[in-house]
Amino acid sequence: MMRVLVLNGPNLARLGSREPDVYGTATLQDLTDACVAAGRQLGLHVEVRQTDDEAELLAWVHEAADGRVPLVLNPAAFTHYSYALRDALAMRTAPLVEVHLTNPAAREAFRHTSVVAGVADGTVAGFGLFSYELALRAVASMIAGLP
Ligand code: DQA
Repeated sequence: MMRVLVLNGPNLARLGSREPDVYGTATLQDLTDACVAAGRQLGLHVEVRQTDDEAELLAWVHEAADGRVPLVLNPAAFTHYSYALRDALAMRTAPLVEVHLTNPAAREAFRHTSVVAGVADGTVAGFGLFSYELALRAVASMIAGLP
């Protein structure tokens, strides 16, 4: 079974209590359960991780590159300014889908820029936990070689 890493950046461990009017009430555990369940249906072994630490996130991206492991990545605030993350992702050796719970394009101006989008295969944003399921579907179809 193909392994996929679902990586989450800063403040996403706070889901459930973090600005619920913006991010909803689902927790990181709910997100994890949804990803694992979606992965099972798609024939993917999904592992979900979260960190507030840029260095740790970079180490996971390097690990994925070394192991040719596809990534679904919610870089959270790093999306908007981490050139280090972008550079790490540029070394990827497998599919990469950027994902967001909210639609950053419909929010504050500083969220309209993603420094990550240009090195991703694509982005899914705005559908809450369903964004992750859609991203995993995209990964599955890329692995299968579908358009
Ligand atoms: C987010 C959007 C980012 O702008 C924000 O900094 C986050 C979460 C999302 O999933 O909607 O932390 O990536």
